[in-house]
Amino acid sequence: MTALEIDRLHKAYTDTYSGEEVTAIDEVSFAVKEGEFVSVLGPSGCGKTTVLNIVAGFVRQSGGTVVVDGRPVDGPGPDRGVVFQSHALFPWKTVLGNVAFGLRMRGVPRAERNARAREFLELVGLNGFAHRYPHELSGGMQQRLGVARVLANEPAVMLMDEPFASIDAQTRRKLQEDLTGIFETRRPTVFFVTHDVDEAVFLSDRIVVLSRRPSRVREIVNVKLPRPRRWQDTAELPEFRRIANRVNELLAVDEDTATGGVAGKDVEGGHDAA
Ligand SMILES: Nc1ncnc2c1ncn2[C@@H]1O[C@H](COP(=O)(O)OP(=O)(O)OP(=O)(O)O)[C@@H](O)[C@H]1O
Ligand SMILES: [Mg+2]
Repeated sequence: MTALEIDRLHKAYTDTYSGEEVTAIDEVSFAVKEGEFVSVLGPSGCGKTTVLNIVAGFVRQSGGTVVVDGRPVDGPGPDRGVVFQSHALFPWKTVLGNVAFGLRMRGVPRAERNARAREFLELVGLNGFAHRYPHELSGGMQQRLGVARVLANEPAVMLMDEPFASIDAQTRRKLQEDLTGIFETRRPTVFFVTHDVDEAVFLSDRIVVLSRRPSRVREIVNVKLPRPRRWQDTAELPEFRRIANRVNELLAVDEDTATGGVAGKDVEGGHDAA
């Protein structure tokens, strides 16, 4: 079953000052299956956030279609849950209140929504913090809360735009392992945007590598690493390094052209393209 289908997506922005058109996305197509973890990687400014915002319904495309669970996207909806880079939590609500909010909006009775919220707080390791407020949590804990809040709504697709980018390296690794653990037990469908090649390889089933702006899909790389994944074991597998090298090669094509150099890298090397 396909959870998310992006077909020939195109996006041009009109610059507010100059009035000039900037083509952010030339043509991007890919699909995410139900229960699959797909990451999008690409050079800075290539349109990753734009793709995610179009899927979320925050931004309207100039061409092409986005279909979630069989329905064309036409604005934001509860079938798509977004975990933001900055936490976007309700500061006046408790941790429990933040997680239960979406359920409350959908008319789930209080006892049931609190029970469900607690279940998801437990899943992300925040069960002792239900009655705290977001400002009483560390950055990493706030990001866990963001994940719990989205998961509690059981969206068709979970959208994450560099959720760990502002977290220190050590905590980030822990959060990546936790996210993988959650993914492995609950199998949400995840569309994940990142700059970090190792993070993408560690988390994903497939990686969509975009070219620089105006972006196209350069290649879709399969990540056939065993699960459950733990940093210590997974990063040691030769296959992990092989895939990371492959993704780095694909990204380097754009670095070379951007600096006017020669794209002399062997991008046809032993790969696992979809
Ligand atoms: N609201 C907007 N109006 C005009 N141009 C925009 C707007 N939003 C994005 N752009 C342009 O579209 C292009 C893609 O931006 P986007 O934020 O999607 O890239 P990104 O891949 O997420 O970048 P980063 O890796 O830095 O997060 C950029 O050139 C950006 O300047
Ligand atoms: Mg971005």
